[in-house]
Parts: sequence; C-alpha cells; structure tokens
Amino acid sequence: MFQKYLNFLRGISVNWFGKIGVVLATSSFITFIILEFARILGIFTNQYMGLITYLTFPTLFLIGLVLIPIGWWRYTKQRGKSTKELLNERFSPDDVVAHQTGSRLFLTVAILTLINVIFMGGASVRGLHFMDTPEFCGTTCHTVMNPEWTTYQDSPHARVKCVECHVGEGVDALIDSKLNGARQMVLAAFDIYSRPIPTPVHRLRPARETCEKCHWPDKFYGSKLKTIIHYDRDSTSTPKYTTLGLKIDTGHPGERAGIHWHIGKENEVRYASVNDERKKMIWVEVRQEDGSFKRYTNQRLHEDAHAEDIRTFDCIDCHNRATHIYEDPETAIDDRIRKGLLDRSLPYLKREALSAITANYPNQAAAMSGIEAHLSGFYQRNYPRIAGQKMAAIDQAITVLQAVYNRNIHHQMQIEWGTYPSHIGHRGTEDGCFRCHNQNLVAEDGSTIAYDCTTCHSILSNEEDSPFKYLETPSETDRNAMMHEYLKNEFMNWY
Ligand code: HEC
Ligand code: HEC
Ligand code: HEC
Ligand code: HEC
Ligand code: HEC
Repeated sequence: MFQKYLNFLRGISVNWFGKIGVVLATSSFITFIILEFARILGIFTNQYMGLITYLTFPTLFLIGLVLIPIGWWRYTKQRGKSTKELLNERFSPDDVVAHQTGSRLFLTVAILTLINVIFMGGASVRGLHFMDTPEFCGTTCHTVMNPEWTTYQDSPHARVKCVECHVGEGVDALIDSKLNGARQMVLAAFDIYSRPIPTPVHRLRPARETCEKCHWPDKFYGSKLKTIIHYDRDSTSTPKYTTLGLKIDTGHPGERAGIHWHIGKENEVRYASVNDERKKMIWVEVRQEDGSFKRYTNQRLHEDAHAEDIRTFDCIDCHNRATHIYEDPETAIDDRIRKGLLDRSLPYLKREALSAITANYPNQAAAMSGIEAHLSGFYQRNYPRIAGQKMAAIDQAITVLQAVYNRNIHHQMQIEWGTYPSHIGHRGTEDGCFRCHNQNLVAEDGSTIAYDCTTCHSILSNEEDSPFKYLETPSETDRNAMMHEYLKNEFMNWY
C-alpha cells in the first residue's frame, strides 16, 4: 500500500503538471479551511475575503485536481508502461498482496473523492449563495457599482436583493447571469468597462419574471393622491404645493382605466425606438380586441430612424428608476428642506443650496470644499450677523448638501446630474410619458394616443400656497378659469 503511494507520488512529481497539481490542490484546500475558520470566528469581515474564499480557492483546487491525472498520464507515456505496472513496480503482477492493496488503494481514492465532492459542493453552494447577496453585487467591484449601491440603499427596495430584479428565476437565468458576471469581471479587471454604465439595460429579465413576483397588476386600483412641495428661490424659500390625483388603476377588460392599463393581462403595447434607446419612438402599437395591432407612427422622424428590437412595454419602461433613484438637484433640496434637514430660516437657502451643488467641480473632493466655501462664504459676505448667530444651521446645511452631492454625483463613473433620467411623469426636459402620449404619433385613422392633462391625473393644486387650492376656490367657474390659466401659461407648448 505504502509502496504504491510512493510510486504514485514519484510518478507525478517527475513532471511539472503533477507537481503543480499536487501543490495547488493541497495548498488551496488548506488555505480555504483556514480562511473559512477565520471568517466564522469573525476575524475577517471584508467582502473581498469572501470573494477570495469562495471563488478563488475552490477554482485553484479544481485546477490542481485536473492537473494531477494529466501529470500521471504523461508519466505513463514517458515510461511506456501502464498505470497498473507503474504502481506495482517491484511487485510481480500475480502477487496476491498487490491485488489486495490495489483494491485498498481504489477504496482510499473513492473516499477521498467523496470528501472532495462534498467539500467542493459545499463551497460552491455557499459561493453561489454569497454571490446572491446585495453586498457582493454592490461592493465587490467598488468603484463600478458604488453609484447603484448608494442609490439602492436609499430606495424602497433596499431590502430586495439585486438578483431578484436582475436575475429572475430558473436555471437559464442563473447560468446567463453567471456568464455575464464573468464577462463583467474581466471588463472590470482590465478597466475597459464604459462609464457611466449604459442604459437601458437590454439584458434585464422581463418584468413578468421579476417585478411581478412581488407586485401584481390586479393590485393597482383607484387613484393615488400625491402632494409635491417645491420651495421657491426667494429669501424665505416659500413652499409651493402641487397635488395630483394619479389614476393608477389597471382597469378591467374592455375598459381603459388608468396608468397601469398598459400592463393589464389582456393588454399589450409594443414599440420600436430610435437606436433602441427607448427615448424617441418610431412607432407604437396596441393590440386590439380582434388580436390585430393598431399602429401609431411618428410623423416627425427622419426616414433613416433605426431600431433593431421591437420591445413589449412593461414596468421598466416607466419605472426605469425603480431602485437606482437619482434625484435632480431641485427635488433633492426640496426633499431635505421638507424633512427639516435644511433650515429654511437661512435667507435664500434654496437658491444658494442649489447653486452650491450644481456648480462644476472636477472631482468629489473639490465638490466637498466648494460646497462649504460657497455656503459659508455667501452668509459671511451678505449676512455676517446671521452667519454668527446660525453657525450650527449653516454647518449642518453644508454637511447635508455634501451628502446630497455624494449620493447623486459619482465622478469616477462619470455620473452627473441628469445622467440617468427617470421615465415616470414628464419633468423638465425628460419626455417620460410624453414619449408616446403626444400629438406626433398618429394612426392611419388620424387618431393619437391620449395626451390631455387629465388623462393620467387630476390636478388639485399647481405651485399654489396650499395643497388643495382648486378645491378651495369658491365657484366651479373660478376653478376652471384657474386651471385653464395655468395650463395655457405653462404646459401648452410642451411639444
Ligand atoms: C427593484 C428592482 C431592482 C433591484 C433590487 C436592483 N436593481 Fe439594478 N436596475 C433595476 C432596473 C429596472 C434597471 C434598469 C434601468 C434602465 O434600463 O434604464 C437597473 C439598472 C442597474 C444598473 C445599470 C446602471 C443604472 O443605474 O441603470 C446596474 C449597474 C445595476 N442595476 C446594479 C444593481 C445592483 C448592484 C443592485 C443591488 C445592490 C441592484 N441593481 C438592485 C432594478 C433593480
Ligand atoms: C422581492 C420583492 C420585490 C420585487 C422583485 C420588486 N419589488 Fe417593488 N417593492 C417591493 C417592496 C417590499 C416595496 C416597498 C413597499 C413599501 O415600502 O410600501 C416596493 C415598492 C415599489 C414601488 C413603490 C415605491 C414608492 O415610492 O412608493 C414601486 C414603484 C415598485 N416597487 C416597483 C417595482 C418594479 C418596477 C420592480 C421590478 C423592476 C419591482 N418593484 C420589483 C418589493 C419588490
Ligand atoms: C405607463 C407607465 C407605468 C407602467 C408600465 C407601470 N407603472 Fe407603476 N406606476 C406608474 C406611475 C405614474 C405611478 C405613480 C407614481 C407615483 O406614485 O409617484 C406608479 C405607481 C406604482 C406603484 C406604487 C403604487 C402605490 O399604490 O403607491 C407600484 C408598486 C408600481 N407602480 C409598480 C409597477 C409594476 C410592478 C409594474 C409592472 C407590472 C408597473 N408599475 C408598471 C407608472 C407605470
Ligand atoms: C411606449 C409608449 C407609451 C408610454 C411610454 C406610455 N404610454 Fe400610456 N398608453 C400608450 C398607449 C399606446 C395607450 C393606449 C392608447 C389607445 O389605444 O388609445 C396608452 C394608454 C394610457 C392610458 C389610458 C388612457 C385611456 O385612453 O383611457 C393612461 C392613463 C396612460 N396610458 C398613462 C401613461 C403614463 C402615466 C405614462 C408615463 C408614466 C405612460 N402612459 C407612458 C402608450 C404609452
Ligand atoms: C400620459 C400621462 C400624463 C399626461 C398626459 C400628463 N401628465 Fe402630468 N404627470 C404625469 C405623471 C405620471 C406625473 C408624475 C407623478 C410623480 O411625480 O410621480 C406627472 C406630473 C405632473 C406635475 C407635477 C410635476 C412636479 O414634479 O412638480 C404637473 C404639474 C403635471 N403633471 C401637469 C400636467 C399638465 C398640465 C398636463 C397637460 C399638458 C399633464 N400633466 C399631462 C402623467 C401625465
């Protein structure tokens, strides 16, 4: 028995394949055990450690295991003898003892293999499980994923795993994601990925396999009242209220009810967009009751507008920022004032905060000192007395604005204000819903997709001093006049 081991060891150690194989397999095994113990004991808490423990060592171990038989095979070729002959050197082939030890060797190898399989299986199951955690996805490639990780932690989905939206269910999805992940690791390792990461993410699983596992379309009904507060840029940063009754209903077959009508079971909308960017529509189609599709074609596009894919409309066409929610500078400040983090009693707070965070800074560090210099400079120059009295409030404003900046702007990934716009609604220069709901997409019968202002929401107040202004107005005619006035002024020229 012992003789056979010696023969085997001698055989595989005469060439490099065998030598490297043995060293790799044993050393990675021992290292894995040591690291795993250290991790269990809490000595390492670093995420990279987990990556190394679960990915690198099992891989090295496997390579070692493959190299050993190659080494042995080369040895048999070299010596021109069979395995059996080589192992049994010094014994005659008919030796009874040799047969016995032969089967014992087989048993030992079998047991060792079993142990290896259990070890490898355990390691890779744990490895796969570990790779499913948001910590892994969000922090392993720190610079690359930092923006997504930051926005994710601050979103309604902070407790939903990355893989629940990005991978979906089933073995196909799993394999696909691991292959894609491996490709991304290579890109990250050689620093050849694009900055910012391009959107739309074409490889995202269909929403039916992800979003609809937790939110299902039948559950949207009625309307949702939403009050949005904007603060003016005047000296007191006066609050202005906009209240919408968002018609979020899915509706019933045969009836168009509201915003989630698009994703009702019996409805289907599909479209082709310029360069598949989902921004400028070439045409949009809606399935009709008889199964045919009614097409609305964009009258304002050049003939060479190009699309490769036809996309079936789903959640992500509106909720493209379901979790990686970047704020625009104005809403970010409004939100911090509303939460009481920024003190509105500081003169021109809104205006100055806005110009502090939107100035052009070359990097994160310059922004931090720039924001501080801007704010404390402004109050010291213009309101020296207040600067003295409200030092704490100014200091807090600086800290809060620096945090707003770091949450939304990531120089290393070239993410600036507006890099990842949201498709919900129609803010500023973003068309959002108006990508389709506009007068330029026209069907053969001359009809367009509805775009009047109350298709999607009622308006109960718009930049007024109270949240329900139009309800407070005495007579219906006055109310209509007010509505009409602001529609005329603000929105009629939007396209
Ligand atoms: C609630 C679902 C959801 C969760 C959870 C989620 N994502 Fe996303 N993610 C999306 C959607 C939807 C997009 C597609 C945006 C688009 O196509 O415009 C996206 C896009 C991305 C992008 C492309 C860049 C960008 O911001 O659009 C990256 C990178 C990304 N996610 C990483 C992550 C990581 C890392 C996690 C976990 C820390 C995570 N995601 C968790 C839904 C999710
Ligand atoms: C694993 C379950 C899960 C998945 C998958 C999931 N969500 Fe959610 N979603 C939640 C939970 C939980 C909340 C938070 C509910 C709350 O806080 O009231 C939420 C909240 C939301 C909200 C409301 C946010 C708000 O401000 O009120 C939207 C919109 C949303 N999800 C869209 C999506 C979209 C789009 C997808 C697919 C890209 C998705 N969700 C995938 C569980 C999930
Ligand atoms: C046509 C665009 C559109 C599509 C498609 C769409 N949504 Fe929405 N969804 C909206 C809008 C607009 C709101 C209201 C926004 C708000 O609350 O500020 C909303 C609200 C929600 C909410 C919050 C509801 C509440 O009661 O607060 C959830 C959750 C949600 N959507 C999930 C989904 C999921 C999941 C899908 C896909 C099955 C989906 N949405 C498809 C536009 C859309
Ligand atoms: C890809 C194009 C597309 C986008 C983007 C889109 N819609 Fe639609 N929407 C349609 C089509 C097509 C119809 C059905 C039009 C028809 O056949 O009359 C529709 C119907 C509706 C209806 C039902 C109207 C009715 O006739 O009863 C509402 C409400 C609606 N959409 C709201 C929204 C909102 C809110 C958004 C943005 C968050 C949005 N849509 C974005 C294509 C789109
Ligand atoms: C196709 C659907 C649709 C149409 C048509 C539409 N809106 Fe909207 N509107 C939305 C959605 C969705 C939001 C975003 C709600 C949110 O913030 O979640 C919104 C937001 C708004 C806001 C609040 C913006 C803010 O953040 O302060 C105002 C004001 C508004 N709409 C006015 C109008 C006016 C005026 C018209 C007519 C020209 C119009 N809308 C037409 C869907 C629509």
